[in-house]
Parts: sequence; C-alpha cells; structure tokens
Amino acid sequence: MPQPFGLLAEVTHQCPLHCVYCSNPLALRDRQDELVTDDWLRVIGEAAALGVVQVHFSGGEPLVRGDLETLVAECRRLGLYTNLITSGLGLTESRARSLVSAGLNSAQLSIQGEAAESTNLVAASKRFDKKEQAARIIREAGLPLNMNVVLHRLNLSRLDAIIDVCVAWGAERLELANTQYYGWALRNRDLLMPSKAQLDEAVGVYERRKAELGQRMELLWILPDYYEPYPKPCMGGWAQTALTVAPDGVVYPCPVAAEITTMNFVSVRDHDLAWIWQKSDSFEAFRGTEWMADPCRSCPRKETDFGGCRCQAFALTGDPARTDPVCMHSPDHHLVRDALVRANQVGAGEVGEAGHEQLVYRRPPASARR
Ligand code: SF4
Ligand code: FES
Repeated sequence: MPQPFGLLAEVTHQCPLHCVYCSNPLALRDRQDELVTDDWLRVIGEAAALGVVQVHFSGGEPLVRGDLETLVAECRRLGLYTNLITSGLGLTESRARSLVSAGLNSAQLSIQGEAAESTNLVAASKRFDKKEQAARIIREAGLPLNMNVVLHRLNLSRLDAIIDVCVAWGAERLELANTQYYGWALRNRDLLMPSKAQLDEAVGVYERRKAELGQRMELLWILPDYYEPYPKPCMGGWAQTALTVAPDGVVYPCPVAAEITTMNFVSVRDHDLAWIWQKSDSFEAFRGTEWMADPCRSCPRKETDFGGCRCQAFALTGDPARTDPVCMHSPDHHLVRDALVRANQVGAGEVGEAGHEQLVYRRPPASARR
C-alpha cells in the first residue's frame, strides 16, 4: 500500500477571484457545507498518522477561513510542513504575522499576468495592487516567496514581462503552469489554448530567462500536455502520493477528481482518512496498473505515465478508465488533435474583444452571492 506524503486541504471554495481556468469543480461547495474547525483538526491528525508530511492550504482562497491559524498550529504541533496557496487578496501584515507565529512555513502567491488589465481579463478582478502588496507582506514576514502563473493564449506573449514582475517582487521561485484543461478551463478551452507558434516562442523566453536568472530565481515550466506525444504521469499515479480533502469533507486522489461524476467519493464525515485511502472503492479503482485495458495494458510506458490522467480521460470521453486522450496511442486522441487544429487555425495572435466576451468566469457558490 503506498503512503501519501501530501495533503491538499481545500478549506473553502469561497474566492475573491473568478479565474476562467479555475481547477475547482464546476459545482462549487457552499460555505454552509464546509467542514468546521474540529473536523479539520481531526483530518490533520489522521493525515499525519497516515504518513503525510506536507499540508497545502488551498481553496478557493484559504485566507477566507478565520481558523487558518488554528489549523496551521496543529500542523506545527504534529511536525508537518505547511504551505499557503493564496491569491494574496485578504493578506494583511497582521494576518501574515499571526500565520507565521502559528508555524506557517511557506506561501505561494498566484498572479494572472503582469498588470491590472491582464488580471482583470482572466480573474474579473482589478486588484493587481493587492498582489504586489501581498508579495511584500510575505517577504517581510520572513517567508520564502513562491509565485505561480497559469499560462494560456491570453498571456503567453507577455511571459518576459510576467517574469520581470516576479523578479522585481523578490520571488525565489516561479512556476510557469501551462493551463491544464479541466473544469472551468475546459469550458474556456478554445479561448485559452495557445497555438504551437505561441508556445514555441514562450519556450524560447523560458529557456533564455532561466539561463539568465540562474540561482536568483528558480523557473519551473509545467508542460502543456495537449502538445505532448504522451500524457503526464498525473499525481504520480492514482492514489499513490497525495490526497485532497474538499471543503465539504469529501476526499479525492487529486484536486480535480470531483468532476468524475460517475464515481462515488467518500467523506471524512463518514469514514476516517486511513480507511478512505486504503479501502475505499474510489481510491482503489485506478491504483497500480491492473485496471488498465489496451493500449495501456500492453504498453512499455505503463509504469512511467500510469495511463495519464483519469480526470482528463473522464472530461474528454466520459469514462475515467480510458487511456488519457493526450496519448498518441489513445483511440480517443482525435479529441485532443481536433482542439489543437482549432487553436492553430485561429492563429498565434490575441483573441479579439468578441472572444473575450465569450469567456466563462468561475462564479462563487450561491452562499457567497447572497
Ligand atoms: Fe501511457 Fe497508456 Fe499511452 Fe502507453 S498507451 S504511453 S501507458 S497512456
Ligand atoms: Fe485527477 Fe489527473 S487531475 S488524475
């Protein structure tokens, strides 16, 4: 039985941003469905007992939860490393101080682009100033500043300027995450998918800046899998290395699996984490390689990429057991090829104003709108 080392604690789906590529499920969880503090304290304890060593607090925007310090302190008590994944909105000096004194080890700040305009285009928020402020607060609180930007057709051409902003703000590490097409991103796929020419140019920028920056800032390039011949080894294989607890307590082998509507996932309200990890049908379903059908079953790469991503297989084919359609051997590969043909027909230029109007923004759950 593999042992998980990471817990993604999605403490809320409430979020001040509305990103068009959000990986949260299309059906967001209401605030009144969220686990309460005592539930999370129990989950953290069960995670530590199961072997977890890192807890990533995420959302939505985890700063929305007033009990974050209590949860971080419990992790510290149990010797777990903690990371805050934040939009930066809502991070004040005093909040950062209280999180650090509770034991927070690191923070990852997301940006959507290099300026207010690009932030507004993909996140329907003009508060770019708050992100700069959050970067300063994180550094002044003594935490390493890790940054993340999701890349797509609407911002790839400004990669140089995005990297400049992160250097100016004092980031130690920048994750350049090409969009993965699940959830909201899949809805917006035709507007977000870059052309091959755009991507090639961006790879050139990444390689040049990586060499220039050296040790000063680490650059990480997350591959745009639609353009790869083989799928990514998603999550290091299903239920192998990490688990995600959603705001309502349902436990998933990855942050996107809530979208697999044909599977039943179990809540920490009904079972403890060890039982869910070791015995639940949903975690067992795609563990290892026994579940595979051809072409994966007889493929020499099956221990390398584990047949790709189950969430992507479901999102594109309606069956999570199929080979990831990104794979060139997949009988469903035309679904990926067709999307790329469309992306390259539009050309390498920006999507025009009319295209922007078709973007579907992630909406907050009903409770946040009342
Ligand atoms: Fe991976 Fe399956 Fe494709 Fe082989 S056939 S490369 S195991 S996805
Ligand atoms: Fe869920 Fe890949 S995102 S298995």
